[in-house]
Amino acid sequence: MSSSSQVITCKGAICWGKGEGVKVEEIQVDPPKASEARVKMLYASLCHTDILRSRGCPYPVFPQALGHEGVGVVESIGEKVTDLKVGDIVIPIYIGESGECEVCVSGKSNLCVRYPLRVNGLMPDDTSRISIRGQKVYHVFSCSTWCEYMVSDENYLMKVDPSIDLAHASFISCGFSTGFGAAWQTAQVQSGSSVVVFGLGAVGLGAISGAKMMGATKIIGVDINEKKREKGKAFGMTEFINPKDHSDKPSSQLVKDLTGGLGVDYAIECTGVAPLLTQALESTKVGGGKAIVIGAGTEEFVQVNWLGLLLGRTLKGSVFGGLKPKSDLPVLAAKCLNKDISLDELQTHEIPLTEISKAFEISKQPECVKVIIKI
Ligand SMILES: NC(=O)c1ccc[n+]([C@@H]2O[C@H](COP(=O)([O-])OP(=O)(O)OC[C@H]3O[C@@H](n4cnc5c(N)ncnc54)[C@H](O)[C@@H]3O)[C@@H](O)[C@H]2O)c1
Ligand SMILES: [Zn+2]
Ligand SMILES: [Zn+2]
Repeated sequence: MSSSSQVITCKGAICWGKGEGVKVEEIQVDPPKASEARVKMLYASLCHTDILRSRGCPYPVFPQALGHEGVGVVESIGEKVTDLKVGDIVIPIYIGESGECEVCVSGKSNLCVRYPLRVNGLMPDDTSRISIRGQKVYHVFSCSTWCEYMVSDENYLMKVDPSIDLAHASFISCGFSTGFGAAWQTAQVQSGSSVVVFGLGAVGLGAISGAKMMGATKIIGVDINEKKREKGKAFGMTEFINPKDHSDKPSSQLVKDLTGGLGVDYAIECTGVAPLLTQALESTKVGGGKAIVIGAGTEEFVQVNWLGLLLGRTLKGSVFGGLKPKSDLPVLAAKCLNKDISLDELQTHEIPLTEISKAFEISKQPECVKVIIKI
């Protein structure tokens, strides 16, 4: 029996219930099925969505092997895998791109219907590849990166140049790319326009970077964490608003004050704080402003101001910033590889997998942007 057909016993970070945090335990990782690859993880990182998943959003599936950002090396492949080989460096992506389904052919969205976002914690065949003491463990999307080994379908893995900085590769598997794509593909920011980004985590900093690449000339960052002032500047932000300094005015008014009273062409909401959706919408121009929803929270529904929408504004949401994994993501990966875009400023903390239980606490520190997890 070759090693590729054997179950591997290794360490993985498991969340047992809503809000219970994570614990490193011994898990069993199955061999890959026909169209899958098993990946030996090298690095992973923490995205705010992992915190939501640990709270049971959008689906409470437990026990759950957390983590959806990461990078690893292919350890073994199933017999029908065509685009990957053992030894390739890969990152997980939570949507695929068939290039053939109705949505891919239309070019209108990245939400491929053949390889959709999987939120039920199971692989495309509705089974799991991870177990603990004989009990099924759920995945996050189509992977679980805070484990020494994980399995994913090849359509949810992207090969990256092995010379890329491994931490940077992990960042582009979700957060930074999502924000970057929100400006590039979802908003399609026009050159010379104005943009406001709410929330300067990795997602928001990606949105600033994407807006800069598209030629926006005014890029306003809004964050209640003063430490994000310098971070925003490093990615191309031109002005910063800390709403705590102006408790008498809503953020939308503060944005209007910086734009001659008219508001911005685009607002990108990257906090997941529900009331900020209305602030984002209202900070855009009457008659044509676009507000992009990227942040997600624990609520099932959010409210927006009715008149705010009637006045000719558009509200649009996207997953992964509207980036297509095969058509768009390699373009961003190349920019990161050749340092057109530097992701060094994102990496503020590094911990070994064995200390993963500290990651959520570390992420609350004001200076934290990204926690890298060395597997
Ligand atoms: N749509 C998608 O495909 C997608 C992908 C990745 C992440 N997300 C979501 O995007 C959001 C951001 O993720 P992240 O990893 O960058 O999170 P993060 O926690 O690192 O950053 C959030 C930022 O928002 C700021 N913030 C919080 N409350 C605020 C307020 N009231 N006013 C202004 N700023 C405020 C925080 O200080 C922080 O800097 C999360 O909701 C996450 O779930 C969505
Ligand atoms: Zn498709
Ligand atoms: Zn994420």
